[in-house]
Amino acid sequence: MITEAYNEKYRPQYHFTPPAMWMNDPNGMVYFQGEYHLFYQYHPEGITWGPMHWGHAVSTDLVHWEHLSIALKPDHNGFIFSGSAVVDWSDTSGFFSGQPGLVAMFTHADQYPESERPRQRQSLAYSADKGRTWVMYEGNPVLCNEQITDFRDPKVFWYTAGGHWVMVVAAGDRIQMYTSSNLKDWTYASEFGAAEGSHDGVWECPDLIELPVEGKDGISKWVLIVSIGDHPELPEGSRTQYFIGSFNGYSFMSESSDNSVLWLDYGRDNYAGVTWSDAHRDKQEKIFIGWMSNWKYANQTPTSTWRSAMTIPRELMLRETETGIRLVQTPIPELQKLRLHEQAVHQKNITISPGENPLEDMNGVTYELVCEMELGDASEVGFKLRTSPQEETVIGYQTASQTLYVDRSKSGESSFHHAFPCRHEVQVQPKKGRILFHIYVDHSSIEVFVNEGEVVITDQIFPNPASTGAELYVYGGESRVVSLSYFPLQSMYSF
Ligand code: FRU
Repeated sequence: MITEAYNEKYRPQYHFTPPAMWMNDPNGMVYFQGEYHLFYQYHPEGITWGPMHWGHAVSTDLVHWEHLSIALKPDHNGFIFSGSAVVDWSDTSGFFSGQPGLVAMFTHADQYPESERPRQRQSLAYSADKGRTWVMYEGNPVLCNEQITDFRDPKVFWYTAGGHWVMVVAAGDRIQMYTSSNLKDWTYASEFGAAEGSHDGVWECPDLIELPVEGKDGISKWVLIVSIGDHPELPEGSRTQYFIGSFNGYSFMSESSDNSVLWLDYGRDNYAGVTWSDAHRDKQEKIFIGWMSNWKYANQTPTSTWRSAMTIPRELMLRETETGIRLVQTPIPELQKLRLHEQAVHQKNITISPGENPLEDMNGVTYELVCEMELGDASEVGFKLRTSPQEETVIGYQTASQTLYVDRSKSGESSFHHAFPCRHEVQVQPKKGRILFHIYVDHSSIEVFVNEGEVVITDQIFPNPASTGAELYVYGGESRVVSLSYFPLQSMYSF
């Protein structure tokens, strides 16, 4: 259990952060012998991106984390970029004398600027002691493709129906797939993406998972998650798209008929996210976590001793919606143990007119809000959170245009990058005239889940710690709060 006081300005209290220094992508997430492992892109010498290592932490509940020592360090093959880890249950690799063990597969990146044309090659490391120590495989790298400069971020999984390993790996602005029987020898299988999706940036950090469709017994689809890097001329920066389709063990086929891009998150700060290996739930949901930042400004955010946090862990499922089958994300139920029930406030069935604020008496920095609103005659309903006379973060829903938006232009410190203060929006249809908000607020973030995870907006904010006010507002007419729960959340460092 973590006992140090992680109480610097803006330090999240229930989101994973490194103890100190720079972090980016989550890596190597795997569940093994009662522990969730979280590795991450780590620069232990500074709070900006630098020579990459894999930092490491473990948890038994995905809420409380124990920091462990650095798992992988740069060596003669280069920096340690993003990748995944698997349990090699039947010792297909031969690393574990017939026992199960952990194998990490990651990108070795040449240490530029020493190299003129830096190579990115895939390598292995393994651990026979529950991830506490790691051995670099002597045959590294195990997969090279030197025609492609950006060749990285292998995500490996066992394809049960075919009895082989599959690697999905980013190759320029495509995804390539390879197969293997032993994790060491890889055979090219297919490529995806020439004609699909957004190519606004380089493709990175793919994940390929099979997910059930909610409420449709026995029906599942494959989902290919692909992060795309920053484009200097586009305001959104780095973001994550996904494709729904089928997979036959060798290639992925998208089912999209119109090739419109499906975004995983409509906020600015959910990047390079992937799912835990070997950690599916009863209904086969997968657990996902993303890096809560954006390459547009990641190196400039105003924290002092560390930089960046992960999103809260989320369960991924598929749901049939009015617009087709979509990926839905819901907060993992384990987070509910942070709720301070004695200080929670519950209200039901209250009508609100413009100018009224049922959250008037609430002051907080770390909390969760669950609110079902019947839109009624209002032209807009929403929340202003982390408020003071100077600051507010607005989460609004405009009824005529069916638009959900987050406006962080007055959310606090934002002058560190011109693209940070902004408002972004997405269309959401009400369900029988109602909108269900589920919002997580921490020292430097908000995560907004609408209509049970159908639409998600994840954003960093940097308000003054004294901006603790909250408002539930309506404009233009009356609305009804069907139910409202406000749960202050305990710090993960406090027990
Ligand atoms: C994504 C990424 C990966 C790469 C890593 C380097 O954020 O660019 O593609 O492996 O970060 O730190």
